[in-house]
Amino acid sequence: MYVTSQTHLITNIDALTKQRQHDNKSGNHVFKKYLIPNAQNLPEGTAFTVEAEKYSFLVTKQQGRIFAYENLCPHQNKPLNWSTDSVIDDEGDYLKCHHHGALFSITDGTCITGPCQGRHLRKATVGMEKGDCYLLLP
Ligand code: FES
Repeated sequence: MYVTSQTHLITNIDALTKQRQHDNKSGNHVFKKYLIPNAQNLPEGTAFTVEAEKYSFLVTKQQGRIFAYENLCPHQNKPLNWSTDSVIDDEGDYLKCHHHGALFSITDGTCITGPCQGRHLRKATVGMEKGDCYLLLP
C-alpha cells in the first residue's frame, strides 16, 4: 500500500523514520522519499500533479500546509484532471473532479458534494526535510 486514508501531515522525516523503526522490530523499514519540486513555493489555492512510482498525486496547499492525494476520484477511479489541468474549484477552496463535479476538502480529502459524497481521496504522507517537501511512500 503506498497511501493511506488516515495519514497526517508530518513536518519531520527523521521523527517519522524513528517511529517506523520503533514500530518495526527489525529496524530496517524506512520510507521511500520522492522530492516534490518547488512545493514550498506553491501558491495557495493552486495544485499540480507529480508522479511517483507508477502513481499520480495531486499536491496542493491550504493555509500554509501542503497536502497530497492520489489523483484518483473515488466515484469512477479516474484522474480528477482528465479534461483540464486545474483541479481546484473557482474559489480555490476545494479539489474538483472534472468528470462529474465532485468537490473534495483540501485538508482531509472528503467529498463534500457530488456523486461520491462522503467518500475520500486517498491521502499521501508528506514530509519536510531541510526545506524540501517529499512524498513518503512505504
Ligand atoms: S469520476 Fe469524479 S465525480 Fe465522477
